[in-house]
Amino acid sequence: MQDLLLEIEQFCLRNGMSETRFGELALNDKPFVSQLKHGRDLRGSTAARLRQFMAEYGAHQPADAATAREYPAGSLAFPHRDLLGISQLERHEILYLLDQAEPWVELNRQSTKHTDLLSGLTIINAFFENSTRTLLSFEIAGKRLGADVVNMHAATSSVKKGETLIDTAITLNAMRADAIVIRHASSGATQLIASKVDCPVLNAGDGQHEHPTQALLDALALRHALRARGQAADDFTGLTVTICGDILHSRVARSNVLCLQALGATVRLCAPPALMPVGIEQVGAQPFHDFDASLDGADVVMMLRLQTERMSGQFIPSAREYHHLYGLTQKRLKQAAPDALVMHPGPMNRGVEIDSDVADMLDRSIITRQVEMGVAIRMACLEVLTRRARGVAGWEGAA
Ligand code: CP
Repeated sequence: MQDLLLEIEQFCLRNGMSETRFGELALNDKPFVSQLKHGRDLRGSTAARLRQFMAEYGAHQPADAATAREYPAGSLAFPHRDLLGISQLERHEILYLLDQAEPWVELNRQSTKHTDLLSGLTIINAFFENSTRTLLSFEIAGKRLGADVVNMHAATSSVKKGETLIDTAITLNAMRADAIVIRHASSGATQLIASKVDCPVLNAGDGQHEHPTQALLDALALRHALRARGQAADDFTGLTVTICGDILHSRVARSNVLCLQALGATVRLCAPPALMPVGIEQVGAQPFHDFDASLDGADVVMMLRLQTERMSGQFIPSAREYHHLYGLTQKRLKQAAPDALVMHPGPMNRGVEIDSDVADMLDRSIITRQVEMGVAIRMACLEVLTRRARGVAGWEGAA
């Protein structure tokens, strides 16, 4: 019975199908799976019918771009224990995580958004820096997958009493977490913690280094927005993306440059001279200091927050001056492609890097879609990285 439930969950996951839809298609009985989980009797003939449905289903489905892609078998599709940065991922590994998120997008749009796939596992979200979107979406993701989720806030932890990062990591490890999600103000902190613990570590943003799940959710949001317009979005070849703002301090920019380029996009980076890293050309992105020039014909405009908490000294004359030169207004947006999409990872400084009437444009802004995709992508990352712990077939020997 537990085996069958696991088979159904994995079937639904592979095929982007909710359990309600599964019940409807397999037995014309929408609440079937939910009732089964709550003790409904299962006859042998019904189990056989369900297995036959699952075996035959694939043969009758049209190949979908998101599921037809071929990946290396088992854990070779994603041979990493941790998710520390996009820089460590191959293009096909990025696509794998995006494709694995598709069923969770579907599940999250159902009235019942729960599976027991990670039941019995413990996930610790250790956030040493403030967060709304990332912390909440990792928490929701873990809970929707059925895991026990614990949040550790640095402000109320023993970090305040002087405990070192390494001692904190060793403490979390001793509690036998099955995955640890870390946000930290220091670049490289997640790498350090990963080297001290036995379970997968997911980087939820480390200093000015990387924010890999942000770049993945941005790619997923872009994919969905392009598909909703009937545009091919299997990858982003031919797409020009302008990223504007505080490039110097931005882990979001770094992860996005790597992710978007891996998926084929041309990336332009725009910032005032003081907020543009020296030698940025070496990453293959085109640097601009003139926002208007960087917008010319762009298909996507991604605005970044001014990270005043990382600035020591004066990087810009004033917020008003910054808005004048680098704020995205309706007028400025006209220089981009006629239907250019607008993105922002949040939190936004409305009236500084982006005007409210641009951020809230229903047909152009995909900022809330980015937030929606954040839950799905984090569910995918947690599900994939815990396959070894759960003994999923083909993943026993994973990294
Ligand atoms: N985009 C992002 O990382 O937002 P939070 O800081 O709210 O998590």
